[in-house]
Parts: sequence; structure tokens; C-alpha cells
Amino acid sequence: MFEGQSTAGYRETARALAREFAPRAKQWDQQREYCWQNVRELTAAGLMGMTIPTRFGGAGASWLDAVVVIEEIARACTLSARIVVEANMGGISAVMAYGTDEQRAFAAELVLKGDKPAICITEPDAGSAATEMMTTARRDGSRYILNGIKHWITGGGVSRLHFIFARVLDQDGRDEGIGGFLVHADPAAGITPPGFTVVGRERTMGLCGMPEAELRFENLVVEADMVVLPPSGFRRGFADLMNAYNSQRVGAGAVAMGIAAGALDHATRYLKERRQFGRPLAEFQGLQWMLADMDTAVHASRLLLYDAAGSRSSGPGNFPDIMMAARAKAYASEAAIKVVSDALQIFGARGYGDKEPLERMYRDVRMFTIGGGTAQILKTQVAGALLGIKTPQTRDGYARLADGN
Ligand code: FAD
Ligand code: COA
Repeated sequence: MFEGQSTAGYRETARALAREFAPRAKQWDQQREYCWQNVRELTAAGLMGMTIPTRFGGAGASWLDAVVVIEEIARACTLSARIVVEANMGGISAVMAYGTDEQRAFAAELVLKGDKPAICITEPDAGSAATEMMTTARRDGSRYILNGIKHWITGGGVSRLHFIFARVLDQDGRDEGIGGFLVHADPAAGITPPGFTVVGRERTMGLCGMPEAELRFENLVVEADMVVLPPSGFRRGFADLMNAYNSQRVGAGAVAMGIAAGALDHATRYLKERRQFGRPLAEFQGLQWMLADMDTAVHASRLLLYDAAGSRSSGPGNFPDIMMAARAKAYASEAAIKVVSDALQIFGARGYGDKEPLERMYRDVRMFTIGGGTAQILKTQVAGALLGIKTPQTRDGYARLADGN
């Protein structure tokens, strides 16, 4: 078990690691390699699984502690920061809040030893429309048989613990709702359960060291004791599982904000270093105003994320509020893309080349308005909360609501 730290202590621990990670970030990106060395150091520092309750060997750290750590790591290495997110938020936190003691102990052991779990929601025909997922888990006595395809799964091929959202069917094929299924694979050791295949890896524009892969399940057997039963039952399982997922949205927003904070630091330094027209760039008022806007956007993002991290949803477990998480991630991701772009602009041609980290940060930051709920979907959730209405997106959604269906 790791000693818990104060929030300031966590920040210092993360800063020290970030100093080590910064010079390595280019290597993982260019070689499209998972940063195992960093994972070992994150594990030794107690940052993998820091939010896991002390009873299961973690430090019981808060969402705010995790956000603070993620920002510091993301300033230096986006890849490592994303690993910290999924080792503390999302799938693992759903297991910690809703799982049985056996499931919690099992998942905690993997993460505390350095595993970044994979959360498997998205399918080829169910992206934003996640409730239309087709992956099924059919009950067969004391086990479930999974069939379906998930794609864009972060960590596919390196993660050991897989938390799979699937449509639960009873013995007679009747739809019971959505459940979370735990599947253990160890691809590095060549161990994959029968019927579980990692099919392909996407060639992504950013975060190149992180595999994004398609997973296929063909009659994959999951014992009933590996099903995380949502507290309100399968019928409302999707809502409960997404309630836990709000923590991951806050984490993803923190990565985007951390990249932007790092880009702001680089831009501030360069404005003082670079001279044109016989004086430092820092003396040009147009660039000063740009810098002030960048700083404001980063700070506003940070405050929204802290606010969301400290909020509580009305759902089960201690998860951030859906609206506050959506607002913070949508804002932070859009703001970060603009901040990093402006920082690159301040570097001129130098920012466009790979001697500086800006071009990598620019590619890395782009995903955050897409993965984990697009900015459009998140804003729809914010608007729904503000208006106090349901916002169905299907063609007949509002008509069905009016009819009371
Ligand atoms: P679509 O849903 O097809 O949307 C296309 C466009 O239409 C988007 O701009 C979207 O905002 C817009 N749109 C769609 N519906 C509406 C609407 N109703 N109103 C307004 N605009 C709309 N998934 C996982 O399950 N696990 C992972 O680990 C994971 N990691 C990812 C990592 C990366 C790098 C990326 C890029 C994606 C990852 N995803 C993961 C998938 C991600 O969650 C989906 O990409 C996302 O939910 C959007 O789905 P989609 O790409 O199919 O886009
Ligand atoms: N937190 C808590 N509850 C949530 C939730 C969240 N983040 N997202 C949805 N729910 C609840 C809804 O409140 C609703 O509950 P209700 O029946 O009491 O109203 C239920 O889940 C179904 O959601 P609804 O918005 O009615 O579903 P929909 O069929 O219109 O689908 C979503 C919309 C939820 C799929 C879409 O808004 C979304 O979040 N898409 C992105 C998926 C995503 O983030 N993928 C990331 C993969 S890593």
C-alpha cells in the first residue's frame, strides 16, 4: 500500500517525474512506442492507482489530487498523462465503486502493478450514439458469452484489464440493459482468452505511443463473477456506468489543460529569447495580448476542472457531476487546441519543426474534443442540464418524449 500525500505533495512528486519524462517524450512519439519505462516510474511513485481506496492497496486520493498530477505530467508527456488518467479514473473507478470485493482486489492488483486498464465502449456503428451499442453478453448458466466489436480502444494490445460495456441478454435472448464485463488478457506475455482478439492498430496523428486498437469478441466467455453489476441494475446500467465515466472526462480535460499549460510555458520562454527587429518578441504588444489570452484560457480551464473534480453527481458512488464534467472537458479541450496552436505560432517556423515539442503537442492535443465524448455531445449535455430537459438525438426522440414513451 502507498502512503497518501497532500495535494501539494502529489504536485511535487508529479513535477519531479515530469522533469524525467520531458526529454523522453519525443522518443515515444517518433517510435510509436508505449512508455513502459515511465509506467514503471509512475508505479514506483504510487501514481498508478492513487485513487484506489486504501482498503485495496491504493492511497484513496481524490479526483482533485489526480487532476493536479495529470496536469503536471501532461505538461511534459501527454502519453504518460493519459496513462495516469485511466489508471485512476473511468473503468477502474467503476470497479472500485460498484464491484464486489473480489473484483476490486483483482482490478486493484493489476493497476497497482502498472496496468492501464482499457475502457471499451465505442463500436463502429455506435460512437456518439453509444446507447446503440451492439456488443452482446448472453447469459448461459453461470457465465456470459460476449460477441461484438469495439474500436478506438486506448491501450488495446498493451492493457491487461478490459472493462467492456455490453448489452446483456437473458437466457432467452431478451435485452436486460447494459453491464460492465471484466476481461483479463496479457498481450505482452502472449496470453489472450479464447475469443478475444486485438485486430488492428490505428495510425494516429498524435499520441503516437498509445495504441488505439479494434477488439473483437467471438463467443468470449466471461464468468458471472466478473460482471460489474451497476447499482441500479442492468436496466439503468448505462447511466450508472457513464456516471463513473464522468471521472475520466475530468481526467481527459486535465490532460488537455496540462498540454496547454506546457505550451504556454514554452511560449513565455521563447518570447524572451527570440529577437526580431532588434528587440525581443516579448516587446511586441500583439504577442503580449496573445500570451495573456493563452494564460487566461489555461487558468479558466484549470478552475473548471477543479470545480468539476470537487463536484458530486446525484448518481451512485462519489463521481463528478455529469454537467460539470462535460462543461469542463468541452471547454478545456477546445481552449487547449487554440492555446497550443498560438504557442506554435509564437515559435514561427521553429514551432513547426521537431526541434521544439510544440508540433507534437499540437498533434497530441487535437484528440481531446473527440475522444471521451465529443465537444458537441458534451455541450448538448450541458444545455440539457441548463434547460432542465432531456435532449434525445434520434429523429423521433422528442415526439416519443411528448407521447410519454
Ligand atoms: P461520431 O459519433 O460519428 O461523430 C462524428 C461527428 O458528428 C463529431 O464531430 C460529433 O461531435 C458529431 N455528432 C455526432 N452526433 C451528434 C449530435 N447528436 N449532435 C451534434 N453533433 C454530433 N472509445 C472507447 O470506447 N474507449 C477508448 O479508450 C477510446 N479512446 C479513444 C481515443 C482516441 C484518440 C479517439 C480519437 C477516440 C477514442 N474513443 C474511445 C472513441 C471516442 O469515444 C469516439 O470517437 C467518440 O465518442 C465519437 O464517436 P465517433 O468517432 O464515432 O464520431
Ligand atoms: N453521467 C451520468 N448519467 C449519464 C451520462 C453521464 N455522463 N450519460 C448519460 N447518462 C444517463 C442519462 O442521464 C440517461 O438517464 P435517464 O434515462 O435517467 O435520463 C441515460 O444515461 C441514457 O442517456 P441518454 O442521454 O438518454 O442517451 P442517448 O441514447 O441519447 O445517448 C449518450 C446519448 C449518453 C450516449 C451521449 O450523450 C454520449 O455521452 N456519447 C458519448 C459517449 C462517450 O463518451 N464515449 C466515450 C468512450 S471512451
